[in-house]
Amino acid sequence: MKRVCRLLGYASYLCSLSLIVFPWGASSAQDSKQPTPAEIAASDPVAAKTLPSMGELGEWIKLGEEIVAKTTEHPLSKPFVGNGLNCTSCHLQNGRHPTAGSFLGTATAYPAWAPREKTVLTLEDRILNCFMRSCNGIRPPLGSKVSVAIQAYITSLSQGEAMRMNPKKSIGPRAIVLLSAKPDSASAERGRLLYAKKCVDCHGLDGQGDTENPPVWGNRSYNDGAGLANAENLGAWLKVAMPLDDANLTEQEAIDIAVFVNSHQRPRFKLAEHLPPAAEIGVYNGETP
Ligand code: HEC
Ligand code: HEC
Repeated sequence: MKRVCRLLGYASYLCSLSLIVFPWGASSAQDSKQPTPAEIAASDPVAAKTLPSMGELGEWIKLGEEIVAKTTEHPLSKPFVGNGLNCTSCHLQNGRHPTAGSFLGTATAYPAWAPREKTVLTLEDRILNCFMRSCNGIRPPLGSKVSVAIQAYITSLSQGEAMRMNPKKSIGPRAIVLLSAKPDSASAERGRLLYAKKCVDCHGLDGQGDTENPPVWGNRSYNDGAGLANAENLGAWLKVAMPLDDANLTEQEAIDIAVFVNSHQRPRFKLAEHLPPAAEIGVYNGETP
C-alpha cells in the first residue's frame, strides 16, 4: 500500500481511503497500476465518505459542485459570468481531475502569497478572481452564497490533507506544471495546422465551439487577464487536458497550439469593469435576524 501511495504521488488522505477508493490498492500484483483521471473522478472520496455525515454543510458542498459544473446556467452564478465558460471548462471533472486545474488539495495552500496581485489571497479571493478573469464576469460579493458554496466544495476536496500554505504563488499542490518548451520557441503556423487536426472537431475552425464544447477565443472566451491568456500557462494546461479524454500532445505541440489559440482576439481585462459597486463588495451572510 505504501508503494501505491508513493507511485500515485497523491496526498495521504487518498491513500488512507485507498481501500475504498482504489479497490485494486490492496492487491500487490496490481500495485503499479495508476488510476486514470476518470477513475479518480468516479471514486469521489468526499461524497462516498463524508457528505452523508455533513448534514446542511453537505448540502452546500453539493450546491458548490453544481455551480462549478454549470456556472453559466446556475441562477446563483449566472449573473456573475460574462462568457460561455463554466469553472469545469478548465478545472476538468469539476476540479477532481488530478492535474488539469485540479482542486484536490487546493484549499491547503491558502491564504497564499499572490505575485500578480502583490498581496495575500484567501481561497475565497482566488475563486472570485476567476469569475472576473477566466469567466470574464463580475466579482461576486465576499460572503455571498455563490462564493461560500464554491469554497465549501473546493475545501471538501482537501478534507484530511495537511495544510501547506504557499508563500510563493497562489496555487495549490496539484497546480499545472509549466513545460520546458517556451512560447519563444513556438510557431503559431505549426499551431494552426495542429489545431486543424486535433481541436477543430470540437472547438470549430472559428474557435467558437458549440453547445457541447466551449469557445477558445473571441468575445465568449476567457479575457486577456486570465491565467490561460498567458501562452506558457495554456500550453502547460493543454498538455494535461486536451484533446479531451486523450491528452496526447507533445510539449512542442502544446506550446505551438497555445501560441496559435492565444493569437486571436479576446476580451480586454480592465479591473474596474469587473468589480461590483463598492457597496456590494461584501455582504453579511447570516440568515437569522
Ligand atoms: C479559462 C479557464 C478557467 C476557468 C473558466 C476558471 N478557471 Fe480557475 N483557474 C484557471 C487557471 C489556469 C488557474 C491556475 C491553476 C493552476 O496553475 O493549476 C486557475 C486557478 C484557480 C484556483 C486556484 C487553484 C489552485 O491550485 O490554487 C481556484 C480556486 C479557481 N481557479 C477557481 C475557479 C472557479 C471557482 C471558477 C469558476 C467560477 C474558475 N476557476 C474558472 C483557469 C480557469
Ligand atoms: C472531443 C472534443 C474536444 C477536443 C478534440 C478538444 N477539446 Fe478542448 N474542450 C472540450 C470540452 C468539452 C471542454 C470543456 C471541458 C468540460 O466541460 O468538461 C474543453 C475545454 C477547452 C479549453 C478551456 C476552455 C475554453 O474554451 O477556453 C481550451 C482552451 C481547449 N479546450 C482547447 C483545446 C485545444 C487547443 C484542443 C486541441 C489540442 C482541444 N481543446 C481539443 C472538448 C474538446
